[in-house]
Amino acid sequence: MSLPKINPTKTEAWKALETHFQEMKKLQMQDVFEKDANRANQFKIKWQDFYIDYSKNRITDETLSLLLKLAEEVKLKEAIKQQFSGEKINETEDRAVLHTALRDFENLKPEVKATLQKMERFSEEIINGSHKGFTGKAITDVVNIGIGGSHLGPEMVTEALQFYRNHLKIHFIANIDGDGVAEILKDLNPETTLFIIVSKSFTTQETNANAAFVKDWFLKKGSEEDVQKHFVAVSANVDGAKEFGISEENIFPMQDWVGGRFSLWSSVGLSICCAIGFNNFEAMLKGAFEMDNHFKKEDFGKNIPVVLALLSVWYNNFFKAESEAVVAYSQYLYKLVPYLQQAVMESNGKSVDRNGEKIDYQTGTIVWGNVGSNSQHAYFQLLHQGTKLIPTDFIGFSEPLHGNTENHNILMANFFAQTEALWEGTHKKNVQNPFKFFDGYKPTNTILIKKMTPNNLGSLIAIYEHKLFVQGIIWNIFSYDQWGVELGKTVAKSTLQSIEKKDSSVIENLSTKNLLNIFLNNEH
Ligand code: F6P
Repeated sequence: MSLPKINPTKTEAWKALETHFQEMKKLQMQDVFEKDANRANQFKIKWQDFYIDYSKNRITDETLSLLLKLAEEVKLKEAIKQQFSGEKINETEDRAVLHTALRDFENLKPEVKATLQKMERFSEEIINGSHKGFTGKAITDVVNIGIGGSHLGPEMVTEALQFYRNHLKIHFIANIDGDGVAEILKDLNPETTLFIIVSKSFTTQETNANAAFVKDWFLKKGSEEDVQKHFVAVSANVDGAKEFGISEENIFPMQDWVGGRFSLWSSVGLSICCAIGFNNFEAMLKGAFEMDNHFKKEDFGKNIPVVLALLSVWYNNFFKAESEAVVAYSQYLYKLVPYLQQAVMESNGKSVDRNGEKIDYQTGTIVWGNVGSNSQHAYFQLLHQGTKLIPTDFIGFSEPLHGNTENHNILMANFFAQTEALWEGTHKKNVQNPFKFFDGYKPTNTILIKKMTPNNLGSLIAIYEHKLFVQGIIWNIFSYDQWGVELGKTVAKSTLQSIEKKDSSVIENLSTKNLLNIFLNNEH
């Protein structure tokens, strides 16, 4: 059975939301907490180590109930069941979408179990030093070569869980920029470095070129035979990896039903296992699994991903907010936004609906942001006093990991203060100076988590995965394909041929042709 194909704008709930919005847009509800002492308690969800406060949003009971009605009318419940049961909901690629099966500990598929065991064995040998390099030395550095989903997830997690890391140094080669690659290689010793080539397809231009370059670099010291001790691959394309020269036992399989941007739970997470050990990796998977169960079973009104998705749709489609920010008050999460950008924007940046029709309403939100408190000194001015409406998620942790409570208190004071200032503005103060006046009424969600642990990180990532899925269902788009990135890849291939042949004659676009000629002749 295919996913429901319902135009959201034609539903009863959407029409009611439009009418409701006409009322809501006139309101300035900064004082709502004085009027309704129960509001903070009402618009919150407490789940395990998570406390989600969404009371500082431009919503009333009615808004929420209409949004929930919308979720019902677009048949969200059925869609969730279809995804988890492995139906081929990625219709345009004829694939199931089962990254959740990688962490379904009640029902682990035999192939998932076998891969996890292989990852455990291998990462342990790397960590405990029993895996030796070609001169008999233990591995000290692990380099993940991959791009997009084969990079952003592992990098985000290894940074986020730095506290749980061992002695191994982890590096990431993603960009095809040779200068970047050289900067990483210059500090590495081929005798003690393990390269993990991560590519689901094993056809990605950047990854293949970088892997070939790195292998040549390695072969200046080691032999072809030594490659087996220093190169492993993660791929669904076993033949491609073998062709590159990696032996079958050094290939960690990936399933067709795992999309790149949702793949950190799979063997793509091998660098994570090396960095934090298999037990921590498994704890992260378990955290995600617990969130999967919450998402599958909890009523939508108390369902974290569903509520966050509905709020986002409310701002995106009714207030016409073009973007949303994510600000984590944790240096550990400094790679969260780039990760979310791929997850959210590659998934929901679509303008054709599930019926193949051009869409006349807004879809995919633009996600941006950085960590707090740094962001306050960069772009918060625009959040507070700019003309654009930017709903923002604030993520923070109650406990620091290193026991520096003094700094943590300052960090968290800023965390709480900002959502309050964004909402309250200066409306209670008699501010006459227009430059110092703050409108307030800026919406935020506060995600307060007890502590940064592998388990909680897994749950947090899963929240955002499910949130984007819910939005895709509401917008009637296919969230799990990414045809939009293909055209650029094809054009890049033909442009590369022109560069290699030093011949721009086949380039049709005159702007590109001019630029290429300047580049080819270095005519600056
Ligand atoms: O170009 C987009 C994309 O296909 C992503 O979806 C994917 O994460 C990335 O390229 C890398 O793909 P692969 O793992 O096949 O090298």
